[in-house]
Amino acid sequence: MQTIDDLGDLTGKRVLVRSDLNVPLDGATITDDGRIRASLPTLKRLADAGAKVLVTAHLGRPKGTPDPAYTLKPVAERLAELLGSPVLFAGDTVGEEARHISAALTDGQVAVLENVRFNAGETSKDDAERGAFADELASLADVFVSDGFGVVHRKQASVYDVATRLPAAVGGLVQAEVEVLRRLTDTPERPYVVVLGGSKVSDKLGVIDNLLDKADTLLIGGGMVFTFLAAQGHGVGSSLLEADQLEVARGYIKRAAEQGVELVLPTDVVVAPAFSADAPATVVAADAIPDDQMGLDIGPDSAKAFAEHVRGARTVFWNGPMGVFEFPAFANGTRAVAEALTQTDGLSVVGGGDSAAAVRQLGFADEAFGHISTGGGASLEYLEGKTLPGLAILEETS
Ligand code: 3PG
Ligand code: MG
Repeated sequence: MQTIDDLGDLTGKRVLVRSDLNVPLDGATITDDGRIRASLPTLKRLADAGAKVLVTAHLGRPKGTPDPAYTLKPVAERLAELLGSPVLFAGDTVGEEARHISAALTDGQVAVLENVRFNAGETSKDDAERGAFADELASLADVFVSDGFGVVHRKQASVYDVATRLPAAVGGLVQAEVEVLRRLTDTPERPYVVVLGGSKVSDKLGVIDNLLDKADTLLIGGGMVFTFLAAQGHGVGSSLLEADQLEVARGYIKRAAEQGVELVLPTDVVVAPAFSADAPATVVAADAIPDDQMGLDIGPDSAKAFAEHVRGARTVFWNGPMGVFEFPAFANGTRAVAEALTQTDGLSVVGGGDSAAAVRQLGFADEAFGHISTGGGASLEYLEGKTLPGLAILEETS
């Protein structure tokens, strides 16, 4: 894979950079700018090298046509603040404004192109349609730098196809992320503890499957825990339940036992009668959830036990909150796990946009963790052992 160093002298060169600037927004207010901050080093480096930097990125999932709710304008503004220098903004991705800006950029200047997903070609499943759009993107620049780690699992025009149309290099963020994930997959220091949360078992099947061969301990929390508890024959009240995944969950419990992997489920749960911030919370045993209650967090005994496993790990990977951390009454499990990650002597990795936003919302500093990944889906797919199109194409083209 070529790196930015291999691209040679970049003075005056137009560099198209794919970044992942998909940040959570409340209206036009960015609620977590972690992905913008993570993108800065590569953009700064290119600008300092005298390149004309054109950033392409997506926000949300618009339907292939311009939609003001998903404009990257506020993101470009935040980027300018963080860079400490003006950032130009093109109101289209490959249209007149983009072409004008591409031609007018001066050495060391940075511009952001409007949401790449405003163009149907970006996410098209049709190779020709994607290719035609990639041609237009490529025509704006001389070289391509792939730095959007959070999207490298997407076979999309700005991630995949454009890399075949321009001299392409991997950016520093993608390099750093892959290096950490390699440490998790190749020869993790043991004990290797994985904490999985989030709402759906079905999202995590591949990764559980793969990690049962790799990890020493698998701690399961979040909404998906109730499918596991139900698989053990316990009532789960009105908690989230994926009835079609019960057999799969049973299979994992059995396989963990056979392979000597410690699969740890919560022994107590925080329940409430409704999904609401002010619903009255009580703690019950995990095998005694009342019919009219739903589990919204792991309980205090479980939080303590999970934290002990995490603190004793030499390698720990965490993806997905343990409960509804957005509501303070149900944030304790997630907080306990996050805190334990900051206390382990080993390598601690927080995987994913949502988990990253959770730790910041709960007041933890990024520096307290070994690594906070900017990619949730991407890091899970990497750990599943899948081929990530955005990485594979860089291997192929250089
Ligand atoms: C993310 O937020 O997970 C990445 O930016 C990828 O976005 P996507 O899941 O909409 O492709
Ligand atoms: Mg995602």
